[in-house]
Amino acid sequence: MSAYEAALEALKDHARGIADFDLRDTFAKDRDRFARFSASHDDLLLDYSKCAVTEETLDRLVKLAQVAGLAERREEMFSGKHINITEDRAVLHTALRAGANSAINVDGQDIASDVESVLRDMSKFAEAVRSGSIKGTSGKPFTDVVNIGIGGSDLGPAMATLALAPFHNGPRLHYVSNVDGAHIADTLDGLDPATTLFIVASKTFTTIETMTNARTARDWIAKALGEDAVSAHFAAVSTALDKVADFGIDQDRIFGFWDWVGGRYSLWSAIGLPIMIAVGADSFRKMLEGARDLDRHFRQAPLRENLPVLLGLIGFWHRVARGYPARAVIPYDQRLARLPAYLQQLDMESNGKRVRLDGTDALTPTGPLVWGEPGTNGQHAFFQLLHQGTDVIPVEFILAAKGHEPELKHHHDLLIANCLAQSEALMKGRTLEEARAQLQAKGMDAEKIEKIAPHRVFPGNRPSLTILYETLDPYSFGRLIALYEHRVFVEGVLFGINSFDQWGVELGKELATELQPVVEGKKSADDRDASTAGLVAQVKALRER
Ligand code: F6P
Repeated sequence: MSAYEAALEALKDHARGIADFDLRDTFAKDRDRFARFSASHDDLLLDYSKCAVTEETLDRLVKLAQVAGLAERREEMFSGKHINITEDRAVLHTALRAGANSAINVDGQDIASDVESVLRDMSKFAEAVRSGSIKGTSGKPFTDVVNIGIGGSDLGPAMATLALAPFHNGPRLHYVSNVDGAHIADTLDGLDPATTLFIVASKTFTTIETMTNARTARDWIAKALGEDAVSAHFAAVSTALDKVADFGIDQDRIFGFWDWVGGRYSLWSAIGLPIMIAVGADSFRKMLEGARDLDRHFRQAPLRENLPVLLGLIGFWHRVARGYPARAVIPYDQRLARLPAYLQQLDMESNGKRVRLDGTDALTPTGPLVWGEPGTNGQHAFFQLLHQGTDVIPVEFILAAKGHEPELKHHHDLLIANCLAQSEALMKGRTLEEARAQLQAKGMDAEKIEKIAPHRVFPGNRPSLTILYETLDPYSFGRLIALYEHRVFVEGVLFGINSFDQWGVELGKELATELQPVVEGKKSADDRDASTAGLVAQVKALRER
């Protein structure tokens, strides 16, 4: 048995030993639990005291992280080793925010100056769009910018644009990702081609959804302003510079990045251009600084005080030792409404894997299902299941102490009270006796109480953790996203998998390419399975009605 397997077995034994851990009892006896099971870095706090862990749990998790080689793997990532073994690539999104003076080598080449040079080109372009000195062919400044991309070329910038709304002082931003024509049609509806700039964002510049939307956008501009207007109304972000040039986008409007930036880790690169256009180059740099600060913390803080490590250890504990298949991420922040969708790609595309680095089957369950919605809206939708459903789903609450609307402080007080109330309710629950007593106090008769009380019982003892910081600004936003990126890394190391490839998305793409001519009626469906052939026939019949 390897040291890893031994540590894993010891962790599972320990989990069995504390299977009946009761959060409510524990809190009743221990006033220091918050102090002992929370950690902070500046104003950023992680409270994991409402998770069923003891000092021994943490010791065993840290031991597992040590034998899994977490510290070594972390240094391999930061130093540019090709840790994405299936694609033979370095994983260096951290280099995008390391600063101009960092000395990071990729395959013998110092990349800091390349990163800085693209950042400067982006800044020049973004500030010129914002000031109106770059104009459309009609001589009018751009009022609207439409980013066309999908996955990592959409989710990060779209999430950040909403998150940083109080810092916007540029043109309006729109995002088109879905190949469903409804998306681009609804987005362009009401926009003026003369004042609209498109950014085509695609790492590979081959993604069918993005290319289809980009061609539709090009036709829209050409139809309204003439073919010659296309170059003035388009910019692009990609690692495939030759393919972008073929599309007809001017060289000085193409912003590059590198194969060592994974799509879902790319918002810090030129993929962040729309964010920069929205909030300006200075705010964008503050976002990078926040992420850099978290990178430093991740690299230097002892494991027991290291926020992304703790978040990853707790995630692994819930998934593997406690067997929870999912986790909910609930930002109590309307402007983080897109964070759960962003984290779905970050986490599930990274850690939704079934084999280890050496190709053998994973020894544990791997990445959980990640989902969520902002609070308080979620409370009025799916929190019922979180409190009384038959599955236990750990919840991650995200909360800022201060909002951006001082005149609406009473709203923010209410928001905070709701967030704290939910984590308290999940932990404490309500016993049958308490439910009975509550109904008695309302004057209900005894017979009815016995019927109703069981429905009003909350089992409680349901884990949650809370991430709290002062306020959501570019710096704290950058730090929050880097926290989650490194958490995914930590869990990936504990699972023993490659978190940086995404072969699981390939099969569907290949089959869609095969099926396109079938749907178009250019090829028979006879060689498909009976269900697919039946669905194709029914689509055809419905279209002919
Ligand atoms: O869905 C797979 C994927 O490759 C993601 O990893 C990526 O973020 C997305 O497609 C978009 O890819 P591209 O930026 O190359 O268009």
